[in-house]
Amino acid sequence: MSVFRKKSIDSILAESRNKTLNPTMKTLDLVLFGIGAIIGSGILVLTGKASAEAGPAVVFSFLIAGLACCLAALCYAELASTIPSSGSTYTYLYVSVGEIVAYAIGWVLIGGYVLTAATVANGWSSYFSRLLAGLGVEIPKEYYTLPAVGGYGNIPAIIIVLLITFILSKGTSSSKLVNNLMVAAKVGIVILFIVVGAFYVEPTNWTNNFAPTGFSGVMLAATTVFFAYLGFDAISTSAEETINPEKALPKAIIITMVVCTAFYILVCLVLTGVVEYNRLGTGDALAFVLEEVGQNKVAGVVSLGAVIGLMAGILSFMYAGIRITYTIARDGLLPKGLTKVNANKVPSTVTWGLGILTAVLAGFLPLGNLADLANVASIIAFALVSYTTIVFYKKFPDLKRGFRVPGMPVLPIISIVLFGALLYSVTLTTWIIFIVWVIIGMIIYFTFSYKNSKLRDLIVELLFCCYYVIILILKSMH
Ligand code: ALA
Repeated sequence: MSVFRKKSIDSILAESRNKTLNPTMKTLDLVLFGIGAIIGSGILVLTGKASAEAGPAVVFSFLIAGLACCLAALCYAELASTIPSSGSTYTYLYVSVGEIVAYAIGWVLIGGYVLTAATVANGWSSYFSRLLAGLGVEIPKEYYTLPAVGGYGNIPAIIIVLLITFILSKGTSSSKLVNNLMVAAKVGIVILFIVVGAFYVEPTNWTNNFAPTGFSGVMLAATTVFFAYLGFDAISTSAEETINPEKALPKAIIITMVVCTAFYILVCLVLTGVVEYNRLGTGDALAFVLEEVGQNKVAGVVSLGAVIGLMAGILSFMYAGIRITYTIARDGLLPKGLTKVNANKVPSTVTWGLGILTAVLAGFLPLGNLADLANVASIIAFALVSYTTIVFYKKFPDLKRGFRVPGMPVLPIISIVLFGALLYSVTLTTWIIFIVWVIIGMIIYFTFSYKNSKLRDLIVELLFCCYYVIILILKSMH
């Protein structure tokens, strides 16, 4: 069985030249799209929790997770500039390692993107309810409480996901405009928090108890805040909709990572500098800290910005999930109906299918632990991308690249080691759910995808045909 059959690079390049999607994105759009995907619940919700875990040393947690992601981002940049295809990790693996591994990781990434979008939608719903409460409008609790604990489900989360699905189904131009506005709101409140908060920093808060839980606390927090970096890879899924992707993609990925890491470090320094670390374990740490220093109005603006900004995260992850599903279906590994595009050149069946799935997950499941699941999916995908860069370096040294990772193969190896360290703290339950999802994907592969793959072994099928024809001729001669 040729489960390790590979796509040729030429066929992928020809496919992306023969694209049906609309190329409209430039470097700045990609950076905004990337920041839209990356900055979100991680900085607005998890930062407080991680600061409470690791103390002011949480800065190192962000640096460790950020370093691993930056190195992987460089690998992404090289691969994306070599193979501009909407399949991203999936396509790179299809070319270098083989179909079954590519399909498996594509399947894992679909789940990862959907879970991440649903998690962000959940965070959005909490901020939204809090904001309305601040304005004197109380949503009855049962409308954002899960059925398991006596509510109807997270109705605001369901509505926002369906609204964003509608925007996505209208095509990238309208999504781009809405996304750019949402990202501006999100970046605006992060900068506002840093600038206002900086005036209240007490350096003794940093020095009194810098790393209360030691190195293990820093590593634990690093695994938590890894979620805050999820999303940079989404940029490379826009390759087929990007003008001049060989140059624009690597530039956009690198700019995005540097900007986001700087934001995270500054936010952590302000958070842990203004309030003692052990009081930060709250879901809305940024607003909490501002209220602590009497900046209630600024805290209100930050909450409003979070409501607007988190929508960009939902949009970006749904977009990435749709594009990967579309590419896998285009290769024949998922049903062909999923590749149909509507009048806006958007694969509408996939868009609505994944939109409804995300809405159901966001509305009816407790997503706290499932964010961990999204982390596992992405850590494995990122580590595989770093590995693939080494394979490309060895197998296709002369291939034209818009960008090359410096210090090959040392940097990708360091990133693989760092990702291994981040996986160390993942719980057994998360591993079990992850493995079940992979098994479901494998059942689909062996019952559907293997037979329907565009790469099915035509030569072997031809030989069988010839064999039968010869047998028939011989029989008829007797
Ligand atoms: N990085 C994304 C966020 O923090 C997943 O919301």
